[in-house]
Amino acid sequence: MASAQKGEQNRAFFITFEGGEGSGKSTQLRLLADRLSTHGIETLSTREPGGSPQSEQIRDLVLQGDNDRWTPMTEALLIAASRAEHVSRKIIPSLASGRWVLCDRFADSSIAYQGAARGLGTKRIAKLQRLVLGDFGPDLTLILDLPPKLGLARALEREAVLKTGEDRFERAGKQFHKDIRRAYHKITEAEPDRCKLIHADATIDDIHEAVWAHVSQLTGLT
Ligand code: TYD
Repeated sequence: MASAQKGEQNRAFFITFEGGEGSGKSTQLRLLADRLSTHGIETLSTREPGGSPQSEQIRDLVLQGDNDRWTPMTEALLIAASRAEHVSRKIIPSLASGRWVLCDRFADSSIAYQGAARGLGTKRIAKLQRLVLGDFGPDLTLILDLPPKLGLARALEREAVLKTGEDRFERAGKQFHKDIRRAYHKITEAEPDRCKLIHADATIDDIHEAVWAHVSQLTGLT
C-alpha cells in the first residue's frame, strides 16, 4: 500500500513484522535486512512504539510501569501519537529516498493489543489508525504465529536477562495473549493479500525461508 505496484523491483517497500510476545520478530527482521543487503537493497530497520527520538520518549511512557498505569484509551492514544511522529519523520522520508523500511510492529499491534486484548474494540482502533495514517500502510505484514504459552515463556526469559523494565504487556494475563493471537488471525483473514501468517514454532532458518518466500512473491526478488 505504501507506494506503487506489485512486482516492481526499483521502489522501496514497507514491510512490518507482527506477532505476540517472544515470537522472534526482531531476529527475523534482522535476517531479512541482511538478506536484502546481499541484493544491494538498503533498509531502515525500526520499531514501534518508538523509532524516532520523540516516539522513543513515548515508548518509555507506554511500556514501563504497572500494567494498569494507563487507561486503555490513553494507551491507544499515546501509541497513535508515537506512530504519527514515526511515520512522518522516519518511515515516509525513508521510502521516499528509496530505502525500504522494515518495522517491528505497526498498526496491527494496536488493533490486536488495544482493540482486542484491552477491549477497546478492533473497529474503533482501526478507525483511529485511519485517522493517523490516512491511506498509508505496509505493503506486506508478516505475522509470526505462536501459542502464547511458548512465546510468553521466551519473552519473560529475555526480560530476566535484559532487564529493560519494558514488561507491562508480558505481565498481562493468559486471556490477554490469547485475544491477541485471535485478533491477528482475524486480521489475516480480512486482509489476506497484505498479511501472511507464519508458523513460528519452527527453526530460525525455516521461519526465515517462509519470510523470504513472501517477500520474494511481493517484490520479484529471488
Ligand atoms: P517490545 O519490547 O518491542 O516487545 P516485543 O518484543 O513483543 O515486540 O514491546 C512492544 C510492546 O508494545 C508489546 O508488548 C506490544 C505493545 N504494543 C501495543 O500494545 N500496541 C502497539 O500498537 C504497539 C506497536 C506495541
